[in-house]
Amino acid sequence: MKRQLRFILAGILMFSSLIACNGGGNVNDPMEEQVEKLLGQMTLREKIGQMHQVSPGNINEVMTQLENGEIGSMLNVTNPDMVNQIQEIAMKKSRLGIPVLMSRDVIHGYKTIFPIPLGQAATFNPLIVEEGARVAAVEASADGIRWTFAPMIDVSRDARWGRMAESYGEDSYLNAVMGVAAVKGFQGDSLNRPTSIAACAKHFVGYGAAEAGKDYNSTFITERMLRNTYLPPFEAVAKAGCATFMTSFNDNDGVPSTGNSFILKDVLRKEWKYDGMVVTDWASATEMVAHGFCKDRKEAAEKAVNAGVDMEMVSGSFIEHLESLVKEGKVSETNVDEAVRNILRLKFRLGLFENPYVSTAQSVKYAPEHLAKAKVAAEQSVILLKNIEEVLPLGKRVHTIAVVGPMADAPHDQLGTWVFDGEKTHTQTPLKALREMYGSEVRIIYEQGLAYSRDKRTDGIAKAVAAARQADVVLAFVGEEAILSGEAHSLADLDLRGAQKQLIDALSKIDKPLVTVIMAGRPLTIAEEVEKSDAVLYSFHPGTMGGPALADILFGKVVPSGKTPVTFPKMVGQLPIYYAHNHTGRAPSGKETLIDDIPLEAGQTSLGCSSFYMDAGFGPLFPFGYGLSYTTFAYDKLHLSADTLRMNEILTITANLTNTGKYAGTEVVQLYVRDKVGSVTRPVKELKGFQRIALQPGETKTVTFELPISDLAFWNIDMKKVVEPGEFTLWIGTNSSDGLSADFEVLN
Ligand code: BGC
Repeated sequence: MKRQLRFILAGILMFSSLIACNGGGNVNDPMEEQVEKLLGQMTLREKIGQMHQVSPGNINEVMTQLENGEIGSMLNVTNPDMVNQIQEIAMKKSRLGIPVLMSRDVIHGYKTIFPIPLGQAATFNPLIVEEGARVAAVEASADGIRWTFAPMIDVSRDARWGRMAESYGEDSYLNAVMGVAAVKGFQGDSLNRPTSIAACAKHFVGYGAAEAGKDYNSTFITERMLRNTYLPPFEAVAKAGCATFMTSFNDNDGVPSTGNSFILKDVLRKEWKYDGMVVTDWASATEMVAHGFCKDRKEAAEKAVNAGVDMEMVSGSFIEHLESLVKEGKVSETNVDEAVRNILRLKFRLGLFENPYVSTAQSVKYAPEHLAKAKVAAEQSVILLKNIEEVLPLGKRVHTIAVVGPMADAPHDQLGTWVFDGEKTHTQTPLKALREMYGSEVRIIYEQGLAYSRDKRTDGIAKAVAAARQADVVLAFVGEEAILSGEAHSLADLDLRGAQKQLIDALSKIDKPLVTVIMAGRPLTIAEEVEKSDAVLYSFHPGTMGGPALADILFGKVVPSGKTPVTFPKMVGQLPIYYAHNHTGRAPSGKETLIDDIPLEAGQTSLGCSSFYMDAGFGPLFPFGYGLSYTTFAYDKLHLSADTLRMNEILTITANLTNTGKYAGTEVVQLYVRDKVGSVTRPVKELKGFQRIALQPGETKTVTFELPISDLAFWNIDMKKVVEPGEFTLWIGTNSSDGLSADFEVLN
């Protein structure tokens, strides 16, 4: 491909001479002036060219388009020489010399892979997310990528949806906090630095509510729910300077996002005053034809641009039809100008006019400090779900361990979904890490049992059991291969696949402590395996350094601190499931009577007519925010600065947290609030804050939360965002279904 390029890089990059001769004119002018000046020189065709993003196919065609100023952005070019050659053509051969914006899905790492976003959310540590994004930006920008399609901040409440892996989970507030952290990390302190890459908030909006968890499916989110739950993370990142937004594939209540002027114009531009750039998702403009929302590609271009889209990803309907649409008066040139302004502004912000090139002499990929950060991220992402009789950490009494299961040494699969660039040869698996880090202290017997997670052959199970019999403790690594989650990888059954259930069952029948470690892209339905195991660690695909992180956790060098960023269902039939559901008129209470306890010929109202499942009971397997530690924590002395407050006041909440166990550990302290009565029904609880608190054994700290009363605002019966006066309850605690509570009142 390189040979086909008409321009050879060697010796011809004269950066400085390019600066002054571009259409951007004097780059020291205030940016808006530069944008206007450049826009004023552009033909309609050149403007539309800026709105066109391509994924390189026929390179000769691309070269011609570049020369004609008909490409604004390219995806998936990761060879820095090629990036430079492309920029060379755009800068020197096109009439106005506008640089190309190079983009890529850099989702949870470029080369050094961090845990999947769902795992990063489990850290409840925005610094981890920020650092992960920074590392990704440094590595990706070294190959010339200046725009990533992340973070994904789709509130995700249905684990059947494969893309839950890419999100920060079910909670609106957690998605907002983590999304802002990711934007900071990608974009750095200024977009203008060579290692800063523009972030893209996606998918705008509601994509996570795909009906029945099936990817690309329709959503039916009411305006109030959109505003109370799905929009806040996007508003937060818009306010934090997220450079771009991506429209989502779904139609909400019949309107595909790419043609939805309510979200793109009324909300994003008018209400939030957003001046960044909006791109479609991959071909989501022309998919409006498949949706039956547009009769052809031309109408798709018309509806997308009129709705407020600035750039079309790959489907090419703008470049094909916008000129005639403008001539026919169906799209106004003012609309086109506005889109182009948003695109040029971003290119100026990124400093691309000054330096569109990438220096190829960088060796930042897999840098030791990047790997070290990826390890800490993986450590903090691991959730301890069960630990009876202190099976973990593995102590001095353990001389021989049996390592079994398809995920113990699966260097590709532990990286998780959306890994285009990270190489499995750099992955450190649990088996490798256990051998290298603890192999001199304990004897390790490895017997895979199953070759991969979907493996149905049961002949290896007997060997795994034989290995287990020789050991003091069994470590079973099971879960999902990377390909079982992510885009277009939804599932209707969330049990462990292949013969993994049989493997765990067989291992649980011998008289050895069983530690099950699950690596997956979503919460799986693991009630039986939890029951059969002595300890369970859940590790959302942990990335390059997952092995060393897990090894240190198993041996107690690191104490687990992760918490569930999504509710874990007992059964698929409970989905969608999330803690912040509205109050029903009939919440279950009292004794849980399950299907087998119902007497024969029981009366119609025998179960009290409340909202629950007869076979799954009242609650989930694990609530949102749940996670154990090797140590124990006690909460007491909850104190509120006032029990009645005015709208403009701040409530100060304090509680004491004590480490009552024998290990130093970190607790994620969570603050939840309930608005007891509203003009519309309100969630039973909403997360309003969290903090990671590290404590030595026996140590007590006072944890303080400042809650501005304005944070209690919601979109009420009149579709206004207000705090409604009245009574509230708050909780401070260790997860969403536990905690100390107190009431307070908000006065008018
Ligand atoms: C996905 C986006 C992604 C884009 C570009 C689409 O299929 O939905 O999340 O950024 O492709 O690769």
